[in-house]
This record gives sequence, structure tokens and C-alpha cells, in this order.
Amino acid sequence: MSACIPVLETGYLTGQLQNETGKLFARLKVTGKEEYNMQVKINTRAEKADMQDLFGIFFEDLNHAADGGLYAELIQNRAFEFCSVDNPDYHGLTAWEKIEKGGKTELRVEKEHGLFPENPHYLVMEILEEGEDTGVCNHGFHPGIFYEKGACYNFSCYARKERGDCDRLVISLRSRTGDIYTSQAIDITDKWEKYQLTFRAPFGDRQGRLAVTAKGSGCVELDFVSLFPAHTYKNRKNGLRRDLVQLLEEMHPKFLRFPGGCLVHGGSLHAGDRDSLYRWKNTIGPVENRPSCRNNWGYNQTMGLGYYEYFLLCEDLGAKPVPVLPGGYNPHTHEAAVGDELKEYIQDALDLIEFANGDAESYWGGRRAAMGHPEPFHMEYIGIGNEEVGEPFFERYPLFHRALREKYPEIKIIGTSGPFAAGKEYDRGWQSAREVGADLVDEHYYQAPEWFIANHHRYDAFPENGPKVFLGEYASQDNTWFHALAEASYMVGMQNAAHAVKMACYAPLFCHVHYENWRPDMIWLDNCTAVPSPSYHVQKLFMNHHGDVVLAQEISEKGPSVMMSRYPDSLPGDIVLEANESRVAFENIVITEEDTEKQHTCRGTVLSPERSREKITSVDSRNYTIRLRARELSGKKGFTISFGQQDEKNRVFWRLGGWANEDSIIGEDINGRNSCLVQRTRSVEAGRNYDLEIRVRGRRVETYVDGAAEQETEVRPVTAEPVYITSSRERESGDIIVKMVNVLPRKEKVQICLEGEENSRFTGHIYRIEGYHRDDRNTFEHPDLVRPDAAEAEFDSPVFEVDIKPESLCILRLHCRQNPVLPGLYADPDMLKYQDTYYLYPTTDGFANWSGTQFHAFSSRDMREWKDEGVILDAASEQVPWSAGSAWAPAVFERDGLFTFISARKGRMEYPVSVLR
Ligand code: AHR
Repeated sequence: MSACIPVLETGYLTGQLQNETGKLFARLKVTGKEEYNMQVKINTRAEKADMQDLFGIFFEDLNHAADGGLYAELIQNRAFEFCSVDNPDYHGLTAWEKIEKGGKTELRVEKEHGLFPENPHYLVMEILEEGEDTGVCNHGFHPGIFYEKGACYNFSCYARKERGDCDRLVISLRSRTGDIYTSQAIDITDKWEKYQLTFRAPFGDRQGRLAVTAKGSGCVELDFVSLFPAHTYKNRKNGLRRDLVQLLEEMHPKFLRFPGGCLVHGGSLHAGDRDSLYRWKNTIGPVENRPSCRNNWGYNQTMGLGYYEYFLLCEDLGAKPVPVLPGGYNPHTHEAAVGDELKEYIQDALDLIEFANGDAESYWGGRRAAMGHPEPFHMEYIGIGNEEVGEPFFERYPLFHRALREKYPEIKIIGTSGPFAAGKEYDRGWQSAREVGADLVDEHYYQAPEWFIANHHRYDAFPENGPKVFLGEYASQDNTWFHALAEASYMVGMQNAAHAVKMACYAPLFCHVHYENWRPDMIWLDNCTAVPSPSYHVQKLFMNHHGDVVLAQEISEKGPSVMMSRYPDSLPGDIVLEANESRVAFENIVITEEDTEKQHTCRGTVLSPERSREKITSVDSRNYTIRLRARELSGKKGFTISFGQQDEKNRVFWRLGGWANEDSIIGEDINGRNSCLVQRTRSVEAGRNYDLEIRVRGRRVETYVDGAAEQETEVRPVTAEPVYITSSRERESGDIIVKMVNVLPRKEKVQICLEGEENSRFTGHIYRIEGYHRDDRNTFEHPDLVRPDAAEAEFDSPVFEVDIKPESLCILRLHCRQNPVLPGLYADPDMLKYQDTYYLYPTTDGFANWSGTQFHAFSSRDMREWKDEGVILDAASEQVPWSAGSAWAPAVFERDGLFTFISARKGRMEYPVSVLR
């Protein structure tokens, strides 16, 4: 009698989709013949790594993601605070227009006796001549205010009559051409007062206007003219756009990183400046007291969506807040805070934790309580810095770290490794994080989809100890299905490396289609619609089916990987010189082909914006060296040397003086899509000679400047594995989740063996995104073109097959069908009681033929909690020589102190005896 549980090979099942009662329903059937071409054994009992908060989202107010986007305010420039610091085209009357039907009015913005020192400007409306319709209107965000027919809108404003008899104002919702849909009047006095009205829009309009017109003549002053849909998310005042939050809510993100991005570290160091770095203390309290500020992306941020609202949003989404604070350093201007100013930044970080987590008796906790949230927000993470490179940051970061660690040892602190996936600055970020003992390092990179495929195993070898990876920004440069698929494959890689990668979020999240700063983006929007991209659906599926622990898996019988690079082990092709918006002299050009010892000596050339590129030769060798001298004659963006260039869209390059003349980059273009392989800081000085050398050895590249090593990298060939697979278990439900991504244009049949679940059957769901063309994308015309399908599924055995379509994503969520008393599959129980313990003897393993082979016994004292005593009879083994391997209906009885176990078997009844003591 054996008490160990042998692993059973019970056959295999194949997936089929059937349409039953209108619903997609998958029943996986035993086929009896091997058809799969890939097998994954998932050890459901072997927990490989804790996933913690792996997949979350990142919100940055760029692309008008907040004002004009998530923040539901419909009026643009409500407080007349816009100015040319925000954007050279802005002024106090941006988005406002004069209305003069019959009468005559003059508009100007003043600040002499405004109500709010933080937002001192207000509108002065001189009604010189009373007319039929005289005043001002706001056109909201482009192309106008969206009025939904029948919906309610909350209007508010501060107003006063400065002089004259114009003490009645008429507020109206109207069309672009001035047709009034609905209006209400307010009577004003010569004191600033707040007025509030609610409107119901009788008509729908996508280009609506809000107007404030005056009766009589004289002078009226207006401030904080605001219009919100009443129906914001959770109907909150100063609320968020319902449809957009809904999309986030449906993702179930583990965390929300906010408020940026470059948003956080761009601008002046002084909190009181119009263009200051993002200072959270300026974003809480009544909106009137939040100083309007230049947004780093070239517009104005009202801060109506501020830190309190961000924390609330996190709470609503069930996402952990991950605020990112500036590190007292602007990496664009290289200005760094010192002395008391630096202390202020550190204090801001400490105070934020008190604001989020402190009790209501603490100063900042009290401020939060006064805003209506006495309970803490349970903040666990804080990020210091976003992509900062440069020593001034790394001198300051440890000061933040130590102060935070000392006061709040429970908070996880996130450092930063800059905006590139590899290189000197990246290494510097990691080094700093390791030195101080940061919990996580925030990595950012935006690469070609092929890069994500080529680097699938990037994190496998990352150490388990020390700071963990937080991939705080990544995306694959467009919003087609293929891009989303490449991201999905990379997410599988991250999940499989969950020992090292603890958090990851796609970036950016939102883009208002009329205010694009950056693409790709996860969700596109206009004033009334939202278009989730294929990447949104991928992210959502990964978050909806997240899991808590990664399970150990073994993939076998995997077909060959597919090489997508034309030259898997070399970089042959043209050598091309290029001047980047500058005039550059290239000379002493010698190319040596090491394999043949052939030398090409090329004539020098001068390139300029008028003729910026020149091919100098072509190389066919595996190993070659390019030497040349370059001198920038004028301009400020340096030069580029391309090599291994197959065509305009496929090449490797070394660019010096890239971006704002700050970078030296070895990069790669694949199909016109660019990836930075390695980066370091370098500015090109005009007039200086640079002796440059590029050594190409196979796909290894080394660069030298004036004889000194600059960079090295491996240009990884793009190899796609047949199906990328990762599996996890969700602790609460016990569900097993298997994520499979096929980036190849061929179908695969994957056999899945759930080891450790031999006696289980599963119900569950299959979620797929499949059948799309690589270039398919969601648009405003076809917002749902690419989206997942879901089907219910049954898995009658822990071994089954799944068809994986070409270029598709498939996620299985398997829920173990458990006996209400005992886990697993049991039937025909018999029972006896012996010395205060109940013993249960069921037929115990799979019922495909209504019989079992292994028989367990279970014990319980209370008939609630049952303990599996193990296999007491293995009918398939030699243990019972007469057994044909199939038995059922066990029974037990006691005779003279001996317990006898009996079961039925095909053909005849047998009396195998098991002695229980
Ligand atoms: O996500 C867009 C921008 O990319 C972020 O602001 C910045 O952190 C990164 O460079």
C-alpha cells in the first residue's frame, strides 16, 4: 500500500469551440491521439515567484490627458490664467470669444482685485452698448463642448458688477453658431459671489459653447467659470470623466503610477514659479487655491486633478498609489536645488507619506481628513525622480532615500535608471539604487516591436536579490495589433522573470486626439468618445488575469524558433554618413574588412541640411572596422554613422549629439522602427575633431572616440519562439491562469499538463485576441475592431490541448471543479468511524470510464475538515496482482479488529484487503 501520489498520464484533450445557446463554449475532448507540437508541463504546486503588483497603469498629464481628458471640466481656461509661459500662443483669453449681437463689448484680463492670490486673474467684460446678445463664450477643448442630449451640467462662476446697470447675467448652453439651447439668469451684486446653476441639455452637440452674456451696460468681472457634467465618475464634484475611469476600472490595475513622466521634473526649481517642477502641495485643497501652472508638455495645467483626486482614483480602482516626486533636479536644464530648497523637496516627499497615510491628528493627515477622507490611502510606494540622468541627481537621491527610509521604513522607495534600456546612464541609475538599497528601479524604454521580441529573456538573468525592476514606461511605438502582440509577448517574459521584475506599466495612458504630444498611447479620446487600442486590451487581459504567484513550468517538444533577422550572425550592408541638422566634415575615412584584410579608403565629404546623407561604401564581411574623423562645422545636433544598412528602414547606427545634443547612442532601425540599444551622455562640440572608430564583430559592436572606448553592445538578432507561455495561480480563487502569445504567422497546438492536479477537472474561460491582421488598429470609426473574445470552457482532465492561432494571444483561466466536501473527483463514498475519527473511502480518480485506479482514504474529526491520508489502493500497480486497473464503488467493514476494503471491478467482485491499522 503506497501513500504517495504518483503522477498520472491520463491522456490528452483537444480544444474545440462550439456555439451552444448562443454563447461560445469550449469543451475540451479526449482525442486519443497525439496532435500537439508543443508541450508545457505546469507544476501547479511549485511556486516560482511572487508576482506582487506586477501589472499596473501609468497616468501622465500629457496629450491633455488631465485637462480636456480625464478631468471632466468642460471649460478651457476657466480662471483666465493661461499665459505665454504655458505656451507661446496662450494668453488670458485663450478659448474665450467675444459675443456682440447688436451691442458692443470689450474683454480684458486683469489681476488687481482678484479673489484668489494663487490664481489672481479674472475677466473684465465692459459692456459698452447693450445688445440682444452681448458677452463672452468659451469653446471648451477642441472642437467644442460635448453636450449630451438630456444630460445635466453643473455650472458655477464667481462674478461681480464693477459698475453700470448690468446686474443680470444670462448663462446659456449654445451651438457654435450661437443657437441657444437653454439658458438661465443670475443676478449679481458689486461683491464677488459664487453662483451655481444646473442645466439639462435639450440637444446633443459636439461643438457646443458656454456663454455668459449681460443685460444692461457697464462692467462685469468673472472668474472660475466652470461647467462639469453632473454625471462624472461616481457623480463627484470636481470629478473625472466617467467613460474614461470606467475603462481604467475594467482593467483592474494593481497600481497607478502618477502624475508623470517628464511632467514631474521639467521646469523651474521654485515651487512658486509659474513653470515650476510638479509640486504636490500646490495641487490640493479648493481648486481656486491651486496655482495654475505650465505643463511640461506645452500647455496649462489647472491642477483640478491633483494629488487628492489621484489618491481617490487609486482607491476607486483598487490600485496602489505610486506617486513620483521630483528629486530637486531638472535634467533638461541641469539646475539642481541646494540648501534649504533641497530640504524642501525632501520634506515634500516625507509630507506626502503623512498626507496619504498619517492619521487625522497629524498635520498632513488632518489636511486629507478635512478634504473628506479621514481614512488613510495606504500608500506603499514612492518614486523619487523620473528618468533623471546626471551626477547632481545621484548626489541628491541618497538624501531623499535616507530621510524616507529612516522615517518610513515600511515604504518601498523607487529609484530611476533614465530613459534608455542600457548604457552608462542606465548603469549609473542601477548602481545608485544598489548603493543606497532602493527597493525598485524605474526603467523606461520605447522600442520597436522587434526589440521586444529579441529581448524576451532580458530579465531572466537579473538577480533575485537587491533592487527589483519597475518597468515604469514602455511601449512599442505604434498602436497596431502587431505592436500590442509584441508587448504581450514581452509581458509574458516579465511575468516569467517575476523574481526580478515586480512592477510594469505601459506608457502613456491617454491621448486627446486633438492635442497629441506623444504616440503611441493606450487610449485615444476626443471630447465624447474613447478608443481603447489593441495594447489596452492586452494590458487589460493581463491585469484581469494577473495571478499572485508564477508557477514553475517546463516547455518541451517546442518547434524551432524563427529567425526574423536577415543576417543572424553578422551586420553586412552599406555604410552611410549623416549630418543631423548641422554641417559636418568627415575625413580620413578608412574601412577595414578584417576577414579579407581588404581596406577601403574613401574620400572625405561635407554634409549639411541640404545634402545630409552620403553612402560611402558597402561591406559584406562579418568583421570590419570603420575609422573616420568628424567635425561639426555648424549646427548643434551632431552626426550619425550608419552601418549594416540594408535599406533606409533597416540599419544599425551610431549617433553622437542626439536628442538635445546630449546623447551618444548605438541604435537599430528594423522596418523603419527605431530602438536605442545603448546610450551614454555626450555633447558634440562644434569645431572639434572627433576621431571615431566602430568595430563590428559579427553582431557585436564597439565604438571608440579619440581612442577611448565609448560603448559596446550586441545587436541581438530577432528570434521568435513558437509560443511564449507563462502560468500563475490566483491565491483567493485558486484559479490557474495560463497566458500564451504567438507572434508568428503560423498556428500551434499546445498541450498543457497541469502537474499536481491529477484528480481535477476544471471549468473556466478562454480569452483570445486572434484573427487580426498585423496592421489592424482601432479608430474612432471602428473603435472595436481589435478586441478580445471570451468563451466558457470545460477541461475534463488536467492534460489537454489548445489551438493557438497565428499572431494571437490566448489566456486560459482554469477553475478547479471541487467536490464541496473534498477537493478533486470522488464518487461512491463509504464511511466508518474509528476512535473519534471518521474515515471516508471514495472512488477517487477520473471518471472517464466510470471507474478509478487509485483509491484514497480521507479522515476527519468534525466531517468538515478532511485530511487526505493518501492512496491506500493502487489498482493499476502490482500491489494488487489480480487487478485489471479499473475498479469502483469501494466499501469497508470491520471484522475482528481488521478493516477490510472491498471494491467492484470489471467482470467480477474482488476482495482486496487493506488493513488500516
Ligand atoms: O511617456 C512619455 C514620456 O516618456 C514621459 O513623460 C517620460 O518619462 C518619457 O520620456
